[in-house]
Amino acid sequence: KKEKFVNNLLSKMTLDEKIGQLNLPSSGDFTTGTAQSSGIAKKIEEGAVGGLFNIKGVDKIRDVQKIAIEKSRLHIPLIFGMDVIHGYETTFPIPIALASSWDPNLIQKTARVAANEATSQGINWFFSPMVDLARDPRWGRVAEGAGEDPFLGSEISKAMVFGYQGTDLAKNNTGLACVKHFALYGAAEAGREYNSVDMSKLKMYNQYFPTYKAAVDAGVGSVMASFNTVNNIPASANKWLQTEVLRNQWKFKGFVVTDYTGISEMTDHGIGDLQQVSALALKAGIDMDMVSEGFLKTLKKSFSEGKVTQKDIDNATRRILEAKYDLGLFDDPYRYNDSSRAKTEVFTKANQNFAREVATKSMVLLKNDHQLLPLKKEGTYAVIGPLADNKLNMAGTWSVGAKQENSISLLQGLKQVVGDKAQFIYAKGSNIYYDEKLEERAAMFGKNTMRDSRPKEVILQEALDAANKSDVIILAIGESAEMSGESSSRTNINIPEAQKDLFNELKKTGKPIVLVLFNGRPLTIVDESKKADAILDAWFPGTEAGLAIADILFGDVNPSGKLPMTFPRSVGQIPIYYNHLNTGRPLSTELTEKCGFEKFKSAYFDECNTPLYPFGFGLSYTQFNYSDFNVSNLKPKGNTTIDASVTLTNSGKYDGAEVVQLYIRDLVGSISRPVKELKGFQKIYLKAGESKKVVFKISPEDLKFYNNDLKYDWESGDFEIMVGTNSHDVQKIKINWTK
Ligand code: IFM
Repeated sequence: KKEKFVNNLLSKMTLDEKIGQLNLPSSGDFTTGTAQSSGIAKKIEEGAVGGLFNIKGVDKIRDVQKIAIEKSRLHIPLIFGMDVIHGYETTFPIPIALASSWDPNLIQKTARVAANEATSQGINWFFSPMVDLARDPRWGRVAEGAGEDPFLGSEISKAMVFGYQGTDLAKNNTGLACVKHFALYGAAEAGREYNSVDMSKLKMYNQYFPTYKAAVDAGVGSVMASFNTVNNIPASANKWLQTEVLRNQWKFKGFVVTDYTGISEMTDHGIGDLQQVSALALKAGIDMDMVSEGFLKTLKKSFSEGKVTQKDIDNATRRILEAKYDLGLFDDPYRYNDSSRAKTEVFTKANQNFAREVATKSMVLLKNDHQLLPLKKEGTYAVIGPLADNKLNMAGTWSVGAKQENSISLLQGLKQVVGDKAQFIYAKGSNIYYDEKLEERAAMFGKNTMRDSRPKEVILQEALDAANKSDVIILAIGESAEMSGESSSRTNINIPEAQKDLFNELKKTGKPIVLVLFNGRPLTIVDESKKADAILDAWFPGTEAGLAIADILFGDVNPSGKLPMTFPRSVGQIPIYYNHLNTGRPLSTELTEKCGFEKFKSAYFDECNTPLYPFGFGLSYTQFNYSDFNVSNLKPKGNTTIDASVTLTNSGKYDGAEVVQLYIRDLVGSISRPVKELKGFQKIYLKAGESKKVVFKISPEDLKFYNNDLKYDWESGDFEIMVGTNSHDVQKIKINWTK
């Protein structure tokens, strides 16, 4: 039925109308643009627009749709996209924080809530999930992804696609997901935004591709091409990527859109003028041109000169029309414009409560000396730091749909959760940066510096006074929201100096310090990790930030997050990731653990090989013990399944959750294999004193990898099966598995 409908429509379309479907302009500005104000209305009437993005508001979107339906010749509806990345108005923690929950079901529900809110306002296409594997925390966009691991990232990738798209795209509360950025954007050289990528195919297939493929396997409706080159060919002109890998190998059936001016930017990549790069993009497999209008302006000419064919244009047009069909827009173009839903389904109390729960599950406890946490709901607390009463930064990067003023700051949250039982004395203590220029950059989109213009000594003294009156200091420092995210690469991933100085001055008061860290990336915090008494990595927790942090600090919720990305000790260790190769000259385990050095071994003489906090790390208020680790068969043969089991005991005083992690090492292979790879995880809730046997099923599927011929298979031999609480602290059993 769909094929017949689309073919019939295609047969009525002029070449211009077909090319028009491939054009995706921005609405003019992120949240307030209208078709009229940005001059797009005329183009819509002419059939020169296929969709719009980042226009917010059910009435505005309806008005724009009306132009397409009532004034364009063939009445073809528009699709409406938006960067719905970690929620809509109800904003969840930033994606790297969501990944820290290690709870794909929970993450799927966040995407469902986001889809429900956004579709109620007219949005039916979400530019998410962002699944770019990233091993370089200098790159600001690590905030938007799931971290460094292909397995965890793939589980989250699938979950988000299911969350957005549901089981039926034609329902009015589901929409198209758009997996991005295809491909390898997270491997930008030196972590510098938009930089080039050069990578072996083995690394692509084994490490960087699985998260995208997982989204395709989950039925994602659209893909966004990345800005970067891949081995010298920009992704938007890379036929091998967009057609051979994506469509031929992975059987992707949806459409591919560029990222913003991805097409016109290829002139700067130096591969041709606008006409040339537009033709290259179409030929490579790009179906929709976001913003650059290269397709609109040049494809007709390229067609007349024989540089692109009717089939090239028809294929792309067909894919856009099919997506509109799948969304049910041809049945009812206003199906996403229900004003009553828009009033009752957005930023509801239930969604806010859910966002609070999710935020508590996304935070990672990095240190807790002498069980300082949880704090008692009594006494006097100094709440200090430029992020302590800063609601405008709580939602984090890419929260286009959020009304930032709805967010709850840490101070507000503490007062609400603890009430009058304790006293909170607030002082800002410092700005984010001493350097005003840097602070402005770090706040470009949200205009959220909240800079205090008083002399720094005055601001600091206020904080010292507050600290001296308190029993415990709650210090909220780190990055502001726009220090991570797009176009926010850093060479130095420390806490900025102004805040480090504040920390050091407060340390001199001798009061215990609970460091609440706000960050969109792993930071280098060796110094703070020694001096703080407790550290809670809150990331950017979303609209309910303050409440969720207070829930954790005061023990209403026991933290259970685990890091999805390694925290380096220093920038010089980057890229640092747990699933690295062994090298031919590895440092001995003993020396590695002692941060030792040996000449002519793979090590630094001025730095340890180990990270500050490894992948998978995260503490709890309770203690978890691992015992009776066992593998059911030490010499399995052929295509069978074996069990790896361990008994997990909550031996502490608090109920809590632990993420039990399974890693495997392929000890001998036809190519060098990682020292360990995550192959399973289970988040287990146990009451204090309770035990549970945790079982992982392992089959040859878990042993497969792409070999030098890019064949996906497993090889007979020895394997180490490991379980543990993080990627570093594991128990091992060696097995031999033959075909
Ligand atoms: O979706 C985003 C992308 O991640 C970065 N460039 C802009 C796009 C649309 O806003």
